[in-house]
Amino acid sequence: MNQIPIIDMSMLMGKKPSQNSLNAVAKDIRKACQNHGFFYVSGHGISEQLQFELESVSKQFFELSETEKMKIAMPKAGSAWRGYFPVGNELTSGKPDLKEGIYFGTELTEDHPKVRTKTPLHGKNLFPEYPADMKRIVLEYMEATTKIGHALLRGIALSLALPSNYFEREITQDPFILFRIFHYPGQASQPNTTWGVGEHTDYGLLTILKQDSVGGLQVKVNGNWMDAPPIPNTFVCNLGDMLDRMTGGFYRSTPHRVLNSSDKNRLSFPLFFDPGFDVHVKPIEQIAERQSATEDRWDGEDIYRFDGPYGNYLVNKVSKVFPELFKELS
Ligand code: OGA
Ligand code: NI
Repeated sequence: MNQIPIIDMSMLMGKKPSQNSLNAVAKDIRKACQNHGFFYVSGHGISEQLQFELESVSKQFFELSETEKMKIAMPKAGSAWRGYFPVGNELTSGKPDLKEGIYFGTELTEDHPKVRTKTPLHGKNLFPEYPADMKRIVLEYMEATTKIGHALLRGIALSLALPSNYFEREITQDPFILFRIFHYPGQASQPNTTWGVGEHTDYGLLTILKQDSVGGLQVKVNGNWMDAPPIPNTFVCNLGDMLDRMTGGFYRSTPHRVLNSSDKNRLSFPLFFDPGFDVHVKPIEQIAERQSATEDRWDGEDIYRFDGPYGNYLVNKVSKVFPELFKELS
């Protein structure tokens, strides 16, 4: 219990895995989801070369001057909500986070129906002019990580004794993907440390996070905070509100936060693998009806009663963390 488990997911990526190996991974996932709501994955198949490139272009970007970075500032993407935001602009639990970052998502062209109607969170990404290969690397990384998301949800379905394609059939045929790159400045010399990200849960199904070697991610398990330290060539996975809702709290979305109290700058790369934007996320009957989750959540919301398409839930959440930008757009 006092360590977040590491799960080898290679059999979920394989073409013809044996039933035994699938049963074994499903069992591990179930245990991890019930005990921690967090796990590391190894055997994900994303090349270390690509991960290295991603880290290195991100580092180069954040070292640019503020003027240069602001050339792709979020307001320039309008309702697509893409691009760069400076330190202090995002408010996770109502307070400014000590981080800067870039928002990306599935790259859509101008003639996509949702872009034409200016649906929030849909559109083209803003890529910087320098480093020039950030575009290629980010798009490649998002595509590869999305594959991991599909594979892990097959494992999560099996872990709930559902058919392996359950989620793909019901809600992630066209998953909603957001990807972020965050830079948490080192603050060892500051008299008071500030949260990089305050306590929160993630909104969708599954977050797949790559972190560099600095550390600072903390996870709340059974009321106690524990560290999720960097483990080379693994990703940290955690469950979001929609999986919690679908299972009636059998699998919970675990609160987490980031404190970079070191003197080094920290980079992290979360990809959010979420239900389709228009999908009505409903409780899975056989599972949710056995649960009676009633505890108060960190944000006082009642995710079990939420009704409507996932996109509404998401836009409401995002508008709270970027209130200024939201005002401009509405
Ligand atoms: C998030 C998050 C953790 C990190 O973006 O939702 O929790 O390490 N990020 O950046
Ligand atoms: Ni999070």
